[in-house]
Amino acid sequence: MTLPKRAASLLLLVLAIAGAQACPFASMVQGGDVEAVGRKLLQATCNVAALDRTNQASPPAGPPTQTAVDVAVRNVAKQIIFFSTDRNAPGVGGAGAPNRNVRHGALLRQAFHDCGTYVKTARTGGCNGSLRTAGETGAAVNRNIVSTVALVQRYRQLINAEINRRIAAKQLPAGTQISYADVFQLTGAAAVVATGGPANLFDRVEMGRVDWATRTDDVSQLPDRNLGFTALSCRFLSMGFTLRDMVALSAAHTLGAVNGRAMTPTPQTFDASDYFQLVSRGTAAFRTDNALTDSRTAQLVQRWSNSANRGEMLAAFADAYIKMGRMNAMWRSYPQPAEYVRA
Ligand code: HEM
Repeated sequence: MTLPKRAASLLLLVLAIAGAQACPFASMVQGGDVEAVGRKLLQATCNVAALDRTNQASPPAGPPTQTAVDVAVRNVAKQIIFFSTDRNAPGVGGAGAPNRNVRHGALLRQAFHDCGTYVKTARTGGCNGSLRTAGETGAAVNRNIVSTVALVQRYRQLINAEINRRIAAKQLPAGTQISYADVFQLTGAAAVVATGGPANLFDRVEMGRVDWATRTDDVSQLPDRNLGFTALSCRFLSMGFTLRDMVALSAAHTLGAVNGRAMTPTPQTFDASDYFQLVSRGTAAFRTDNALTDSRTAQLVQRWSNSANRGEMLAAFADAYIKMGRMNAMWRSYPQPAEYVRA
């Protein structure tokens, strides 16, 4: 290694360690992540205000159409994902009645991890089902969702088996199938609904994403927990989100746990106000959460930490979630002769 290179590595390391120490969950930073953290801290530059304005003006487009077949397929998926009694793929539970044997947080997180690899400038990554590939499930950042990726695969088998039954009964057109990418978005939404989040989220999930056959996306694009406000914003804005979307999506950390430790007092309830209260006190799980108290987003954090504004917060989360599901998605239409579809 040349001298300047060695000096740069040292600087990266120092920055990374400084970042890790500022984080209340510092002990959870894995050794292997340290240099990557430093690299991302250094890369953190963009014009936050300008990008925010541009993204507000031009949100990502959804699928060209949603057909009756799309709706029928989503309804098949709904029965299975919420209420399946399969031993290997239990349903997530009805609205406000989560099945305690299912890790709802992990299901929501993987909806993000399938899409959050998106790099707009390169048109790579995004919601393409690639989270199922060994290249992604084997990555350190996904080590705690491997079992829920397997659960999604089982849900998908059950959904496609039911679709095949309906094709045989001439209730759905031949060739209809659900993609992994759609099931990742649907299971994340179901986890939110079952734990008391926005009730209509599942029915709003758009259908028809195409899976990449084999490609593995660059998981290092997923935001690191030790990013500061600017680096975090640059990453979200560069995917096409707004700052409001970023704050709203961060509320996902109201669910679930890290290393067995709940991130909020009610980890099985989608109660975003308790998450935002932790953020405003600077005691949420990650540096990225606590960074949301930056002056550009502090007002939102303040509003959403008050449960009186719960409706507004849930609506913002739902809108941002739908936008997330569009990130670089390639859409196809199911075959759709109307006479095959029963209500
Ligand atoms: C803002 C940038 C984000 C960062 C830096 C981040 C980072 C993390 C990390 C490090 C964990 C702990 C994983 C573990 O070791 O078990 C986690 C958990 C989680 N994340 Fe994020 N995340 C971010 C955004 C999101 C988004 C946008 C969503 C979904 C919309 C999400 C959903 C979740 C959920 C639900 C959990 C709990 C998982 C469980 O219970 O197993 N996160 N996140």
